[in-house]
Formats: sequence, C-alpha cells, structure tokens
Amino acid sequence: MILVTGGAGFIGSNFVLDWLARSDEPVVNLDALTYAGNLENLAGIEGDPRHLFRHGDIGDAALLGGLLAEFRPRAVLHFAAESHVDRSILGPGDFVRTNVTGTFTLLQAAQGYWSGLDRAAQQAFRFLHVSTDEVYGSLGPDDASFSETTPYQPNSPYSASKAASDHFVRAWHHTYGLPTLTTNCSNNYGPFQFPEKLIPLVIANALAGKPLPIYGDGLNIRDWLYVGDHCDAIRQVLERGRVGETYNIGGWNEQTNLSVVRLICSILDGLHPASPVVPHEQLISFVKDRPGHDRRYAIDARKIERELGWRPAETFETGIRKTVAWYLDNQAWVGRVQSGGYRDWISRQYGGLNGQASP
Ligand code: NAD
Ligand code: DAU
Repeated sequence: MILVTGGAGFIGSNFVLDWLARSDEPVVNLDALTYAGNLENLAGIEGDPRHLFRHGDIGDAALLGGLLAEFRPRAVLHFAAESHVDRSILGPGDFVRTNVTGTFTLLQAAQGYWSGLDRAAQQAFRFLHVSTDEVYGSLGPDDASFSETTPYQPNSPYSASKAASDHFVRAWHHTYGLPTLTTNCSNNYGPFQFPEKLIPLVIANALAGKPLPIYGDGLNIRDWLYVGDHCDAIRQVLERGRVGETYNIGGWNEQTNLSVVRLICSILDGLHPASPVVPHEQLISFVKDRPGHDRRYAIDARKIERELGWRPAETFETGIRKTVAWYLDNQAWVGRVQSGGYRDWISRQYGGLNGQASP
C-alpha cells in the first residue's frame, strides 16, 4: 500500500480518488484536517476498504512511526502543507511548523522505517515530495521558464517554507540514501479546490453577484495545470522517476489573472445566465496588490516529457470548462465550505474522529 499525507485537501483528495479509480492498491491517508482539509471531498469512496483515513499531524513523530510500522507502505506521497500564499503573509508560523518542521519529522520517520526494510524493499521504496514552482521566485516577461536547475529564490513565507522542505528532502537522499523524488508543479485548478484560491473564489463570487477581486493590475502570470493532469504526472514520477531527481510539472499554459477571470466570466455567462449580475465581467474589481506578489511563473516541463513521456491531457479551455461546470453542479459543497458547515458534516458523519475514522 501507499501512505498519502494531506489526502483530504484539494490535490491530495483528487489524487486519492484517481488512485483508487485506477488501482486496488490501498491508501493510508494521514491528514490533520486543518481548515483546508475536507473529508467530504472523499465521500465518493466512503466505506471503501481500500481507503484508510487517519486523522493526525505530520509533526507527530510517534504517530508516524506507528503508522509506518503498522501499514508498511511501499511509498510515502507527501502532499500535506499549508498552501495559501496570502495566509502565509498574515501568519507564517503555521507554514514553518507544517511545511518545514512537519516535512523534517516525516523524513526522519520515513528514513527510520526504510532503514529497517530488507534490501529489496529498500530499493523499491519511494518518498515522493510534492512541491511548487514558487520556490524558483518570479520571472520577468522575457525570462526562460523554470527548469529543474533554476536557482531557488523564494519570495513569500509560503515559498520559503516549501523551498526549505525541498532542501531537506534533497539532503535526506544525499546523506542517508532515502530514495526520494521531488515534483515542482505550477498552479493547479479543478474540483475540490478551497474557494480562497483565485479560480474557485472567482466562480463562487460570480455566482453570488459579489465583486471579483483582482490584485494589482491583474497582469501577473501563472501557468495553470488541471489537477487530474498533475495527479497523472505524480503517478508516473512515482513509478518511473529516477531516484534523487526533481521533476517540474506544468501546463504549458501561461495566462494573466485578468484573462483567466474574463474567461471564467464568459463561460458563466453561457452556462448560468440566471446569476444576479450578468455579464459577470461587470463584477471585476481591482484591489490592493498582494505584498511581494510574484509577477510571473512558467514551467519548462521538458524533462518529465523526455524521461517519462508525460504531457498534460487537458488544454486550459477544456479544463476550465470542466471546472466551472463542477462548481456549478456542486454549489452545496462550496456553500458548506464557506459557512464552515463542512466541519459539521465531518462530525456528523464521523463523530468522535480521533485518528481511527475511515470514510
Ligand atoms: P490544500 O491546502 O488544499 O490541502 C492541504 C492538506 O494538508 C489539507 O487536507 C490539510 O488538512 C493537510 N494538512 C495541513 N497541515 C497538516 C499537518 N500538519 N499534518 C497533516 N496534514 C496537514 O493544499 P493543496 O492545494 O492540495 O496542495 C497540496 C500540495 O501541493 C502542497 O504541498 C502544496 O504546496 C503543493 N502544490 C500546490 C499547488 C496548487 O496550485 N494548489 C501547486 C503546486 C504544488
Ligand atoms: O504556483 C503554484 C502555487 O499556486 C502553489 O504552490 C500554491 O499552493 C497555490 O496556492 C498557488 O499560489 P498562487 O498564489 O499563485 O495562487 P492564488 O490562487 O492564491 O493566486 C493566483 C493569482 O491570482 C496570483 O497572482 C494572485 C492572484 N489573486 C489571488 C486571489 C486569491 C487575485 O488577483 N485575487 C485573489 O482574490
């Protein structure tokens, strides 16, 4: 089996759902259920014996040791993190605690477990660390895209904490021989993304007739990747990636924030003409910029294509249409996240959640 951390969050829950749709290999899912963790994302596999949910913190060394000894996974896939840049600006402490100290604690536990395996199991074992393109800093308009050898230049507390975690992963491979893999991915979008991030926030606000906040001049550029494509890339890196290597994952899809928001508005005009304010674009509202706002991210994803044959299957046009349609069909999910009701849902479904619940 595999051990996933952060599998109740946006990308982690998509990964677990995709994994179990393709394989019978069980998943142990360790998640602290912070504000970003939502077991409702996993309702589609409720009662599935291949999914073993464990409520707990990656900073809890005793819990990690117990889980690894009990389940003896062939791989650890590490998604758990504090992930929102704006929150890292307001409160960086949690980012250091989870992303840096938590990753360090997980590495130590994994290395202790791995060193006790027999030789064949040691060779087969993988620790796959899910990271971000933000560690490389900000690009100018004519700069080459981020490659795996671009120097690290993190600019926000979030990206600094992720950069630190990447360095620890590298060191655990180099020093102790732990068979690690690191992926640095661009901006994801798709189902189950918490509506604090640009795309789900804009969809939810547009449907409610609320302003669509655009930071600064709206010309910051991100390289958008559909979450299902990211999950596919991670599966391929896990199975065929070269130990100790990093792989950049991106969508070959650079867009300004303004063009993303305009496209969402026009899709909504067609799919949901009954919104309170149509055309939805009238809701666009320029607001104060994010402090230290990185101007441009772009991934050079040629290494993963060359070595593993991976390319994204979705174009931005197909992926964003699916995503807008998903949020339209799942307005109750958004409503429960916004009201905090998803927490009531979790305690109603899994009352007494104490580290042993399994949806
Ligand atoms: P998310 O915020 O939606 O989910 C994070 C999950 O981790 C939540 O379920 C949360 O409860 C859990 N978690 C947080 N702290 C924990 C702790 N101490 N112990 C155990 N669980 C904990 O994040 P996401 O967007 O799904 O991102 C997943 C990973 O992918 C992160 O490592 C992030 O840095 C990385 N990443 C995200 C993106 C993106 O666009 N969202 C892009 C590239 C890389
Ligand atoms: O690049 C990968 C990263 O992408 C991940 O590592 C992070 O976990 C993930 O949150 C994301 O970071 P960003 O800061 O790029 O994502 P966010 O959705 O917060 O913002 C996307 C862009 O939109 C960014 O330029 C800021 C802008 N923005 C964001 C919000 C929430 C707005 O203009 N208005 C908003 O209200």
